[in-house]
Amino acid sequence: MDSIAIIGTGIAGLVAARQCQLQGIHTVLFEKSKHVGGRLSSHRSSWARFDQGAQYFTARSPEFQEQLQLWQHTGHAQVWDFQAHRFRQGQLNPSPDTETRYVGTPCMNSLAEALAEDLSIHYHCHIAQISYETAADDEQQGEWWLYDRKGQQYGGFDALLLALPSAQCQALIDARSPLQKALQTVAMVPCWSLAVAFNEAIADASIQGIFCDHPIVQWISRESAKPGRLQSHDCWIIHCRPEWSEQQKDQPQSVIQATLLQALAEILSIALPTASHYYCHFWRYARPAHSQCFKQALVDPQQRLGVCGDWQQGGRVEGAYLSAMQTSQALLQCGAIGSSM
Ligand code: FAD
Ligand code: NAI
Repeated sequence: MDSIAIIGTGIAGLVAARQCQLQGIHTVLFEKSKHVGGRLSSHRSSWARFDQGAQYFTARSPEFQEQLQLWQHTGHAQVWDFQAHRFRQGQLNPSPDTETRYVGTPCMNSLAEALAEDLSIHYHCHIAQISYETAADDEQQGEWWLYDRKGQQYGGFDALLLALPSAQCQALIDARSPLQKALQTVAMVPCWSLAVAFNEAIADASIQGIFCDHPIVQWISRESAKPGRLQSHDCWIIHCRPEWSEQQKDQPQSVIQATLLQALAEILSIALPTASHYYCHFWRYARPAHSQCFKQALVDPQQRLGVCGDWQQGGRVEGAYLSAMQTSQALLQCGAIGSSM
């Protein structure tokens, strides 16, 4: 049976895996962490489950709208109908728009969990090396072998897809691969994030999502205002600007936490009560430095190797989905996988 290995179980890896599985291809996923979702991540703690990465998503293409309808049908996604606010020149004001935004329910990671159903996934499996191996008498028909950090090997697969941030693809792929040129054009930038919870409401209920023109903060959301969430605390998420996050990447979490609480107080223009809980996270590869859209899938047909991820299509949830669809289709068309269909 024709087979493919996919490294990464963010939305891109999962969507590509579903496409390959649909074509009857033996599909195996490898994930370094203990769960699926990647940056579609929801942190579970004793006090809450909150969206630490992607906050919401928009659906502008017909393909992704189709997937959205499936999620809505199964109860994994809902509209988040919030009144946008904007913090600009020291003032917080409503900032109306007509965009429809969605969230996963009961958390953003539910979208990934729904896609992962019935897929074969190796968790806690950090792939450290990949190798395309050919027999001496048949250089055309090589196999992919994967090696994890513990030295365990997996193979041989007919095709390989890397569904990872661009820098992580670059690190795994051979320096001479034709895919390297495109990968080198995409830099990814970081994001500090803070989740903070209070025992009582700290601001007017209409304040739920704030786009910030602020030197440190880019976005603030009220987690407890999203549909389908537990309401036991007033829980807020703060995401920082990439430039500031890069400058502060080596700071201890306590310093980041104190700075962001001060910024939250400034933006909401209130004196904050003592918070009951905090959680700080540094996203090393949060988003592409520049939004760009690759017109063609990044696939090496000779080795049946592909790379995909949000960075190919604008650094959003929808972009990750579209890039996975485009790349898995291109790999399937290489002829070597799915050729028996
Ligand atoms: P990822 O989700 O990064 O998936 C890659 C996976 O590969 C991860 O699970 C990782 O653990 C795994 N992995 C990496 N290396 C290896 C290895 N060597 N071996 C095995 N596994 C490996 N988008 C929106 O549309 N709306 C938003 O509001 C929004 N907010 C965001 C806020 C933050 C703080 C961040 C970080 C991102 C946000 N995004 C948002 C972007 C969105 O999260 C991403 O576009 C999308 O989730 C990326 O999916 P992906 O599959 O391309 O990559
Ligand atoms: P969107 O259309 O809601 O937002 C796109 C951008 O438009 C916003 O970042 C904001 O700058 C601006 N904007 C939209 N509505 C606004 C309003 N009413 N008032 C003021 N400004 C407004 O969503 P889209 O296009 O799906 O983008 C995804 C979101 O994910 C963006 O907000 C983006 O910043 C965020 N993101 C964050 C990352 C991080 O590292 N923190 C990584 C990747 C995406």
